[in-house]
Amino acid sequence: MRLHLRLGSPALSLARHPTPFCQDLLSWAVVTDSFDPVEYNRAAWDREVENSNMWTRPVGPEVIARARAGDWSVVLIGHRAVPRAWFPAELVGAEVLCLAAGGGQQGPVLAAAGAAVTVLDNSPRQLDRDREVATREGLAVRTVLGDMRDLSVFPDASFDVVFNPVSSVFSPELAPVWRESYRVLRPGGILMTGFLNPDVFIFDATALDERGELVVRHPLPFSSLDLSEQERARSYGTGPIEYSHSLTGQIGGQLAAGFTLTHLDEAPHHADATGRYMPGFFATRAVKP
Ligand SMILES: C[S@@+](CC[C@H](N)C(=O)[O-])C[C@H]1O[C@@H](n2cnc3c(N)ncnc32)[C@H](O)[C@@H]1O
Repeated sequence: MRLHLRLGSPALSLARHPTPFCQDLLSWAVVTDSFDPVEYNRAAWDREVENSNMWTRPVGPEVIARARAGDWSVVLIGHRAVPRAWFPAELVGAEVLCLAAGGGQQGPVLAAAGAAVTVLDNSPRQLDRDREVATREGLAVRTVLGDMRDLSVFPDASFDVVFNPVSSVFSPELAPVWRESYRVLRPGGILMTGFLNPDVFIFDATALDERGELVVRHPLPFSSLDLSEQERARSYGTGPIEYSHSLTGQIGGQLAAGFTLTHLDEAPHHADATGRYMPGFFATRAVKP
């Protein structure tokens, strides 16, 4: 399984899918005219929960206890803590939408720090993780099953913060995500998002994962749907479909939606050979004027 967000060695990834060509054929992305990548990714992320992908493992009681005492941090990209100054000065009572951020991680931490948290995610099993932590810790966390492109379940101007860790890589489109985030934020509201450097997608996945070699192969934009079914199964297993997107779509898209960009950060990919040479992730903070 490729999953640019995976943690672990390629050997571990391959070990999870030892015989890709004879396992669960129905879980592969066999692309037909009616193929819906978001529906496919829903099942794929449910499988990631089964596989204990690191982005599906809920935080422990000690993290919540510290957050309750005011000592908290959350990540947007890799393992890098988001600067506290990116959040509103007063987090207690702030309405925070954790967008495509299930897994029992950021949502429960921000709730323990005093925010009124809603987690929207496309995977029922990922939302189970948030509910597990909320129940265990007596936290109020609202969970909503949905597609990050369609936030119509929320009224206009209903949040102070939209917090979107790396997940737009799984969405076929970006513009609706920024448009909807803008709509649901109050004036002065903050959008934080983490995303992959599209350049990480130009490399041959087998050379990268198996030999740590950077062999330029794919023009951008790239999607794992561009691969043959056989190669996709080999490199991505039954993992989610990924889209490289462009910096224009990411940063230009936020500006086009009306946001003002206030901060930009970058980090090497924590689990990929590109990390020795280039940033694998970017994070932005933007404000609705
Ligand atoms: C890498 S995980 C991110 C959450 C994790 N807590 C983190 O720290 O990064 C990516 C998440 O995006 C969700 N996702 C993928 N496509 C989505 C979509 N179209 N709409 C909403 N959520 C989506 C997945 O179900 C998954 O929970």
